[in-house]
Amino acid sequence: MSFQVSIQSSQHNFQVEADETLLEAALRQGLTLPYGCRDGACGACRGKVLSGRIDHGKAQIHALSVPDRAAGFALFCCAKAQSDLVVECKEARSLKDFPVKTMPARVQTLTLAAPDVMILELKLPASERLQFLAGQYIDILLKDGKRRAFSLANAPHDDACLQLHIRQTPGGQFTGHVFGTMKERDILRFNGPHGTFFLREDSKKPILMIAGGTGFAPIKAMIEHAIAEKSDRPITLYWGGRASVDLYHAALAEQWASTHPHIRFVPVLSEPDAVWGGRRGLVHEVAMQDFPDLSAHQVYVCGAPGMVVAARRDLVSRCQLPEDQFFADSFDFACDSGNESGNEPGNNSATDVAQHAQ
Ligand SMILES: Cc1cc2nc3c(=O)[nH]c(=O)nc-3n(C[C@H](O)[C@H](O)[C@H](O)COP(=O)(O)OP(=O)(O)OC[C@H]3O[C@@H](n4cnc5c(N)ncnc54)[C@H](O)[C@@H]3O)c2cc1C
Ligand code: FES
Repeated sequence: MSFQVSIQSSQHNFQVEADETLLEAALRQGLTLPYGCRDGACGACRGKVLSGRIDHGKAQIHALSVPDRAAGFALFCCAKAQSDLVVECKEARSLKDFPVKTMPARVQTLTLAAPDVMILELKLPASERLQFLAGQYIDILLKDGKRRAFSLANAPHDDACLQLHIRQTPGGQFTGHVFGTMKERDILRFNGPHGTFFLREDSKKPILMIAGGTGFAPIKAMIEHAIAEKSDRPITLYWGGRASVDLYHAALAEQWASTHPHIRFVPVLSEPDAVWGGRRGLVHEVAMQDFPDLSAHQVYVCGAPGMVVAARRDLVSRCQLPEDQFFADSFDFACDSGNESGNEPGNNSATDVAQHAQ
């Protein structure tokens, strides 16, 4: 059985099943309501029920008092609908609504997706969740105070684990550890979310996405978020690698394209073998052949710094893309000039580099 929930101030509507919380349903459908513990303890998800009936579930009394309940307040991470509802709550509209946190996380799974790509799933402590926008990244905090930036590959609604796609850097301190000695149940610390590479949902323009290698990670999060939100904006994804092994999630991208008529996927290889029947060349150049006029598009690019720089230059100068419609994260190396105590959240080298690249 499901019910209709209307948020009065924004006029956003979502469906909630009888056995799920209002927060779970809203996140699943792409709405960014605030939350913290998701356990009825912190009060971050508090809102008001203006009409309709709910069950308060496991809301804790210190976070939602008896007078609060009588006045119509509810903790949306615990509340379940018993009828159609009209509610009032805050919806996150800007990056400021997503607090930067430092947290421990346990390595849940390590999956080799390609010879040099490891998919790492991180589990947060039971009472913690990370709120972020699809496309943002976190900084892994190393024991010596250095940081290493990695994009979140899961969409915000799918946050039971945080997923990272990690390419091995030859001689790399952290990625060497991931491919060498890291094991399941190890504990890491990270800080985030960071960055301004996220889907601009206030636009209706068709979207061109260009990913190189593990630059697919934040693009995956954005596309899965758009699908969850039932957006019908046309999306064309070009994903480039040297050989087909580099497109380690091609089957997933093909599945998006085959199940959603507004999503297209174009794999591109720069050094294919003789049997490759697909597109060849540099990924952004292949995209430009198909989109000579980008004046009415929005473009999202992620991958190696050289690719990001070339894409920005060429798409703006040769395809009439307005510069403010180009969004990118550039996978630069950390400069290791600071340490954790010296770098306030949002002021670390990786953040600066990523934001510089936009
Ligand atoms: C915002 C952001 C998001 C990112 N997301 C991802 C992601 O999702 N997936 C992913 O795979 N990567 C991502 N990266 C890149 C990732 O952060 C680096 O690959 C990682 O920091 C490497 O760490 P390391 O400790 O293994 O390498 P390091 O120990 O830092 O360096 C490894 C080697 O590279 C050399 N090196 C250092 N600087 C440079 C340089 N400027 N140019 C060439 N060589 C250099 C070093 O000498 C050393 O030999 C992201 C980067 C940024 C900024
Ligand atoms: S998120 Fe903490 S009480 Fe709901």
